[in-house]
Amino acid sequence: MQPVRLIFLLCLCCLLQAAPARAQAIRDEGVIATDPPEAYAGSAACKACHQAQYDHWSGTLKARFVRYRKDVGALPGKWGKSPVAADKDKVFVVVGLHRKVAFVDADWRVLGAEYLLGKGKWKERPGWARSDYRSKCGMCHLTGCNPYEKRFTEPGVGCEACHGPGKRHAESEAPSDITTPGRDGSPALDTCRRCHNDRNNHAEAIRSFTGPYHPAR
Ligand code: HEC
Ligand code: HEC
Ligand code: HEC
Ligand code: HEC
Repeated sequence: MQPVRLIFLLCLCCLLQAAPARAQAIRDEGVIATDPPEAYAGSAACKACHQAQYDHWSGTLKARFVRYRKDVGALPGKWGKSPVAADKDKVFVVVGLHRKVAFVDADWRVLGAEYLLGKGKWKERPGWARSDYRSKCGMCHLTGCNPYEKRFTEPGVGCEACHGPGKRHAESEAPSDITTPGRDGSPALDTCRRCHNDRNNHAEAIRSFTGPYHPAR
């Protein structure tokens, strides 16, 4: 084989390998809050000035899939047959709405089984039973989450999970005090990939994502 062609093939192989590896590296990073909780305003605070984006976001699963027990009517799942039936009264947070549901107790311990809504069945997840929800799941499920310090500012994926801490901006109204994915030097998709990979539920939406995220007004 000619050397030029060999080099070309080698480069092609590297590129094909590098793309998924890079996506995975971004995802492994997660969204980790390095700023203190006081730097965050919460999605409700953004509503006053950004009604359109707020209305769009409120309609997405991101805003609703992590709920406190007190805000949920009847608990999803047939608890009589559940491997975690003994912990039913301890449920403090309910995670998931459409496909499967995980349960978290008041000590932020994830219960060791999930309920598959479609099949109406429980699936044991022994690995989860030893997990602190804030440390193991928070980077993708909570806003302003620091998994090492086990803290967060808002349940679910709020505005500031993508835009970064916004307290200062909410007071100054200066565009320079807030970041926007896609306008901060890296592609918007890099922000998405911090939580989404190419395999799970909304993978197709991520693969075909070219923006904008908020529908054009
Ligand atoms: C008191 C009003 C006010 C509040 C509260 C507020 N903003 Fe803004 N925001 C503005 C104004 C004014 C602008 C600049 C004009 C525009 O682009 O609409 C702006 C611009 C932005 C931009 C675009 C920045 C750019 O580079 O163009 C983003 C993103 C944004 N805000 C996000 C948020 C988020 C997230 C929150 C909640 C944490 C928030 N804002 C709270 C007034 C506000
Ligand atoms: C790297 C990011 C990431 C981590 C870490 C993560 N998740 Fe998720 N999770 C997602 C994303 C993205 C979705 C939605 C799309 C999908 O299914 O992949 C999701 C969806 C879910 C759902 C289903 C929601 C529904 O409405 O059907 C459950 C339940 C869930 N995760 C539980 C957990 C638990 C429990 C942990 C921690 C032990 C965890 N996840 C850790 C990113 C993550
Ligand atoms: C902080 C983590 C995180 C980031 C960043 C993130 N997502 Fe998600 N997203 C989630 C989780 C978790 C769900 C799943 C909720 C469920 O399935 O119940 C989700 C759901 C979705 C859905 C399903 C529809 C819905 O109603 O929410 C789409 C589409 C989606 N994300 C696209 C994107 C795009 C595009 C980006 C980047 C601009 C992005 N996501 C960034 C965590 C994230
Ligand atoms: C999943 C990530 C994500 C979440 C969550 C999110 N945004 Fe955005 N936002 C973006 C992206 C990406 C852009 C760049 C323009 C676009 O793609 O729509 C943007 C743009 C904006 C802008 C600039 C004006 C515009 O539409 O271009 C404002 C203002 C804004 N977002 C406010 C909010 C507010 C308020 C919330 C919460 C109610 C929120 N965003 C939640 C990703 C997100």
